[in-house]
Amino acid sequence: MLLFREKPPADWLPKVLANLPAVLVDHAHLERKAATSALNLEKYRDLFPRVEELNAIAIEELQHFQLVLGLLKKRAIPFGQPYPSPWIAGLMRSVRNGQRCQVIDHLICCSLIEGRSCEKFQILAVELKQVDDELAAFYASLVESEGNHYATYLLMAREIDEAETQRRLDFYLDLDARLIREPNPLPMLH
Ligand SMILES: [Fe+2]
Ligand SMILES: [Fe+2]
Repeated sequence: MLLFREKPPADWLPKVLANLPAVLVDHAHLERKAATSALNLEKYRDLFPRVEELNAIAIEELQHFQLVLGLLKKRAIPFGQPYPSPWIAGLMRSVRNGQRCQVIDHLICCSLIEGRSCEKFQILAVELKQVDDELAAFYASLVESEGNHYATYLLMAREIDEAETQRRLDFYLDLDARLIREPNPLPMLH
């Protein structure tokens, strides 16, 4: 169950549909960054007991990365440079310093990024059906995995400190709702 307080803006889907090759390159980087994020979370003391779970997520994200690279190759789309996401940067800028605050904020940010991916992949799975059947099926195949990552990261934060996670989740859901409304003309998922 996704908790978001704002839908993706109305111009997001037409922008993506009009720029599928560039969006696929952005998607490849998104999976690469998701793998890196899972590994980065392993630096927190509170997550030492979850190191194998985090490795499993990193491996899954690397597999997604490989799948997107396979699609790029098949479609003769060159792998290119990543665009920085103002939405992701805006979330991450609000991660507080200090061991306990930082791990909770970082987990919530990772959870929201996974949740937005899950939501947007679901939209693409439906909307691409008439346009690009292969891509529609591909996005449908990723929805469950990204949804699980969303839930796992949130659960990890709740298990460290339930009350603080609830408080910060409320803050981050408002921040997400504000940031997602900011115009971003670049051909990217987030
Ligand atoms: Fe992924
Ligand atoms: Fe993921």
